[in-house]
Amino acid sequence: MDLQHIKNTLGRPYFEIEDCLLYIGDCLNLMKKINSSFVDLTVTSPPYNIGKEYEEPMPLKNYLDWCKDWILEIHRVTKGQGAFWLNIGYLEIPEKGKAVPIPYLLWDKTPFYFIQEVIWNYGAGVAGRKFFSPRNEKLLWYVKNQENYVFNLDDIRDKNVKYPNQKKNGKLKCNPLGKNPTDVWQIPKVTSGANRSSKERMPHPAQFPIALIDRIVKVSSNPDGIVLDPFLGSGTSAIVALSNNRKFVGFEINEKYCDLAVERIKQYKSSPQPISLFEFATTAQLV
Ligand SMILES: C[S@@+](CC[C@H](N)C(=O)[O-])C[C@H]1O[C@@H](n2cnc3c(N)ncnc32)[C@H](O)[C@@H]1O
Repeated sequence: MDLQHIKNTLGRPYFEIEDCLLYIGDCLNLMKKINSSFVDLTVTSPPYNIGKEYEEPMPLKNYLDWCKDWILEIHRVTKGQGAFWLNIGYLEIPEKGKAVPIPYLLWDKTPFYFIQEVIWNYGAGVAGRKFFSPRNEKLLWYVKNQENYVFNLDDIRDKNVKYPNQKKNGKLKCNPLGKNPTDVWQIPKVTSGANRSSKERMPHPAQFPIALIDRIVKVSSNPDGIVLDPFLGSGTSAIVALSNNRKFVGFEINEKYCDLAVERIKQYKSSPQPISLFEFATTAQLV
């Protein structure tokens, strides 16, 4: 399936390159115009309602209602064998909880079937004073059809096997491609700061690490499949999708961030380097 349908319904994109369309606007409005059962994989991270520069904090109930609305649209536009990966963190609920995982409030507010929660564990973050320093966020993995969904385990096996040559009854015990990477993923966060800035860092305050999204795109979609990120930010999901020969549609409400995504896509497209080695440069100011 090609992306012509998107152009027919949403009009001229803000940016277009082969197999990739980016639109500026509210993702809920934009998704409502797309045909049902169009997308193979949605991978995204929304605002967490914690006062980042790209969000207007809302009362908790309004925030959760808003999340339910766009999750419902993601479900509608997802194909029968498609998947939805939601990266989400935690928030404070006054008088109730300090670092409440948002998944506790949202996980079942969707018609999707919930496969499992993956813990993304990272080494840097805020320092807790009278509580433990948070070092994880969650990835909620949903599918539309619990019997029939894409799971390309061989494409993401963990090659770090302790005893790769161990045999049982003359047969290798471990898959030669590596082991199942488990539901705890240790992947460094994209960090900022004079001496500790990640080499993939762009001037966006909540950037996905490339390695995190690369694993998800590989395991939950097939080449030529359509990947959607309704909260595009700096465009990490776009470059990862394109580098894996997937088609991509992205929505971002803020033009400044969309420009970052465009810059990254152009840089990636102009270099033959594999995505994991890519060092992005930016003309915008780091935040
Ligand atoms: C957590 S960030 C995503 C960062 C992204 N994963 C990356 O790698 O850079 C959420 C993004 O959603 C955008 N956003 C907020 N509300 C939106 C809406 N209603 N529609 C589309 N984008 C929105 C924000 O501007 C912000 O860039």
